[in-house]
Amino acid sequence: MTGQSAEKPVLRVLGGEAVWPPPVWLMRQAGRYLPEYRKLRETAGNFIALCTTPALATEVTLQPVRRFGMDAAILFSDILILPWALGQKLRFAEGEGPRLERIDGLPALEALDPAALRRGTEPVMETVARVRAGLAPETTLIGFAGSPFTVACYMIDGRGGDFPLTRATAYADPALLAAVIETVTTATIDYLSWQIEAGADCVMLFDSWAGLLPPDLFRAHVIHPTARIVEQLRTRHPGIRIIGFPRLGGLMTLSYIAETGVDGVGMDTSVDPVALARLAPRRVALQGNLDPLLLRAGGISLGHAVERIARGLEGHPHIFNLGHGIVPDTPPEHVAAVIERLRSLEPGELEESALAAT
Ligand code: CP3
Repeated sequence: MTGQSAEKPVLRVLGGEAVWPPPVWLMRQAGRYLPEYRKLRETAGNFIALCTTPALATEVTLQPVRRFGMDAAILFSDILILPWALGQKLRFAEGEGPRLERIDGLPALEALDPAALRRGTEPVMETVARVRAGLAPETTLIGFAGSPFTVACYMIDGRGGDFPLTRATAYADPALLAAVIETVTTATIDYLSWQIEAGADCVMLFDSWAGLLPPDLFRAHVIHPTARIVEQLRTRHPGIRIIGFPRLGGLMTLSYIAETGVDGVGMDTSVDPVALARLAPRRVALQGNLDPLLLRAGGISLGHAVERIARGLEGHPHIFNLGHGIVPDTPPEHVAAVIERLRSLEPGELEESALAAT
């Protein structure tokens, strides 16, 4: 890591520093709520083409940063590009979400080709390099992947939902689930490592469906693979910062923080940030957790929630974000209002209110 990148506010927070006001970016900050995205999306053809055409993916990544001045850009891609690059058939049906040809047994898993990953994800690395070149030095570029369990959910069920096939496989054919997770874990270590080499300043693991698992399976399929990815990335790239997002992890979030060694943890909408800040070790940065539906609704309660979350974590390493991704019909002005509100917060009101209370 260069001295310059150590100055980026998001990286300072991931290093355990409390920065005021907290730096901000938003999950799914690029996407359909932005007219400039919709316009470009029409010319791109399908969604996979958009993710794998560096000129277009670069432009889409930069759009929200240009418009709103977030402290971080997140690579524009998708967690399902990894299984797609391994050879699993994938399409994004209009209005229906992703559809994959199911991994229904070991033969289907063995038909995937780990050696194809490098070539298949080359355009993603090209995008990372182009985005890095187009960003101001103080803006952090976040690379990402899905966590092995969440990617396995889509690979085994073949579509979004509550993943009944994957959850049944955990009991009926544990060796298959373990083998899928092993394949994804190994591929993810390389995939994130290449993103870092191409210019990502830090990386995030999206485990959107971690909360579906009971504690023993959570430990086996969420914590263990994540710990391995973290350890391997740190060996290959000393000092690299890693954010984990075990969505709806509940109390298991504490074990996740303690046992994976992530530098930052994403808080979903259900988490009380102040309670988690009390329970988690201080070195861990907390990221989140405004309700995306409140962001869409706007109004006075939006401003109040922004202030409550930021103030609640004042003095703690905090990156302001949502509890999940921006929803498509969010007015862009609400995003601008959130960032403005955050940046207008005065420091030190914590002490003042504490004094007022005495
Ligand atoms: O955050 C960003 O701006 C970066 C880009 C990004 C996308 N997907 C773009 C996308 C990221 C980080 C993701 C992660 C992702 N993808 C997750 C984890 C986070 C989460 O939301 O829980 C998951 C589970 C997926 C899988 C996925 N991709 C689904 C379920 C869908 C369909 C739902 C939808 O919102 O349409 C996608 C498609 C997708 N990924 C879109 C975008 C902008 C919409 C495609 C379009 O524009 O037509």
